[in-house]
Amino acid sequence: MKFVITAGPTREPIDPVRFLSNRSSGKMGYAIASAAIEANHEVVLVSGPVNLPPPTGAKIVSVITSDEMHAAVDEAVRDCDVLVMCAAVSDYKPASVAEQKIKKRDEKFSLELIPARDILKSLPRSRNFFVVGFAAETNDVEEHARAKLATKNCDMMVANDLSDPNIGMESDENAVTIFSRDGESEKILRASKKIIACALVKKICANAKKVLTKKF
Ligand code: CTP
Repeated sequence: MKFVITAGPTREPIDPVRFLSNRSSGKMGYAIASAAIEANHEVVLVSGPVNLPPPTGAKIVSVITSDEMHAAVDEAVRDCDVLVMCAAVSDYKPASVAEQKIKKRDEKFSLELIPARDILKSLPRSRNFFVVGFAAETNDVEEHARAKLATKNCDMMVANDLSDPNIGMESDENAVTIFSRDGESEKILRASKKIIACALVKKICANAKKVLTKKF
């Protein structure tokens, strides 16, 4: 199968020296890319700025902002079977980017933010590829993950419980729950991101084959 996988954070510039971003390390997305390659799938990895070596065999598309990630995904999904949106894409971006460095003053300062484009929501509703979203949650994990599965029109939603600081973001380990459209859910208990990635790739392929019956 042809996988498009997004990984890492995006950065939204404020001025020439500052940006808004998040703690995503890209480790989960890179592990999924490696697992898919090991299982003989083709991989396009759309990566935000991370400090990780590129998985051998993946086609890497490097991006910085949410708009760049949106454009890269839009292009890559034209020829794919599975999209895995593992990236922690910014929800907001500055309404304008200052051309010069914003100078410090002795008063309060506020930044006007506008919503960034939601990449999953902007995908066509009718399509011939399988879509996996990730839900990063600190509370009410199941409720939020199921809501995102529906509103973001995904085939599968992988929920990360961020309430345990020892796993998930930046860590080498994770624990996830996978929610499918048919209401089914499956927990993968705490393990290395490598092991979780292998299990995810197997599950994604099995479910994608059921949905993409004309292709496989
Ligand atoms: N996502 C996206 N475009 C965005 C933000 C998120 O496509 N601008 C995708 C992520 O890649 C992920 C899914 O949406 O697959 C859920 O992301 P998450 O950060 O958990 O949720 P948000 O939609 O940002 O909602 P909230 O921050 O309110 O939880």
